[in-house]
Amino acid sequence: MVSFTKLFTTGLLATSALAIPVAKPVTVEVQKRNSTLTSKRGAAYNDISTVSPLSSAGTVSWAYNWAMSLSGSLPSNVDYVPMLWGAKDFGGWVTAIETALSSGSNYILGFNEPDMTSQADMSASQAASYYKTYITPYSGKAKLISPAVTSSTTSGLGLSWFKEFMSDCSSCGISGLAVHWYGNTADEFKSFVTQAASTASSYGLSELWVTEFALNSDAGGVADAATTASFLETVIPWLDANTNVTRYSYFMCADNYLLTNNALNQAGQAYTS
Ligand SMILES: *[C@@H]1O[C@H](CO)[C@@H](O)[C@H](O)[C@H]1NC(C)=O
Ligand SMILES: *[C@@H]1O[C@H](CO)[C@@H](O)[C@H](O)[C@H]1NC(C)=O
Repeated sequence: MVSFTKLFTTGLLATSALAIPVAKPVTVEVQKRNSTLTSKRGAAYNDISTVSPLSSAGTVSWAYNWAMSLSGSLPSNVDYVPMLWGAKDFGGWVTAIETALSSGSNYILGFNEPDMTSQADMSASQAASYYKTYITPYSGKAKLISPAVTSSTTSGLGLSWFKEFMSDCSSCGISGLAVHWYGNTADEFKSFVTQAASTASSYGLSELWVTEFALNSDAGGVADAATTASFLETVIPWLDANTNVTRYSYFMCADNYLLTNNALNQAGQAYTS
């Protein structure tokens, strides 16, 4: 990691615009896109061709792909939000994030489930250090969202991991908390989101992003369309009305999830209506 940091620092100094990592008031100019966000609903995708069937209903305003670049193009009314997934992406980060920002992205998402060994897998203090190195320098160019933590209630994971992280990252320039949820009922979901909002508020964060959520039974694809549709018909209006939640994206925008044969299925209709 030491040599990685050196490479990064060299790259950083070569780019004069980034040489001063000082947080400024955020007044982001949108260079290419000019979608006026009318909805906090997003598309979490791997395959970019799945976004337009989802966004064609007109209620999806943003998208992310757990990555730092688009790999293709999004519908013009959908904003792209780049993510620094984890250590595997540090090498290409500077080039990718500068491209995304100059194309109009105005948010950056932090690491993906650093509290899980199978995902970004970082201790809270390690993550805070990486965050300061790779993401905080862009705080004058974009709004910064925290690493996305799971809904695990095990001590040291989930919101507990986030609290440890914030003890080392209170000056990282973060504006919002990102969380993921997998569980069994709409009530459990609402309860977790409410708890996350309270956590965000206790750190003075003005945003809460729910960047993955689904019933446990649907984590590998929609198991029973009527059950999923009913869950979404309950939680989507609740999320829309909840002023603490600034953005959300269901897991996920893909065939067998919100789409079937690249068209909205019953779950997709419930998500976008
Ligand atoms: C973006 O679009 C809105 C609404 O059409 C318009 O008022 C605004 O001036 C546009 N902003 C830019 C930077 O083009
Ligand atoms: C938003 O969060 C604050 C802080 O936890 C809480 O007091 C308030 O009731 C929440 N609002 C909604 C609509 O849930």
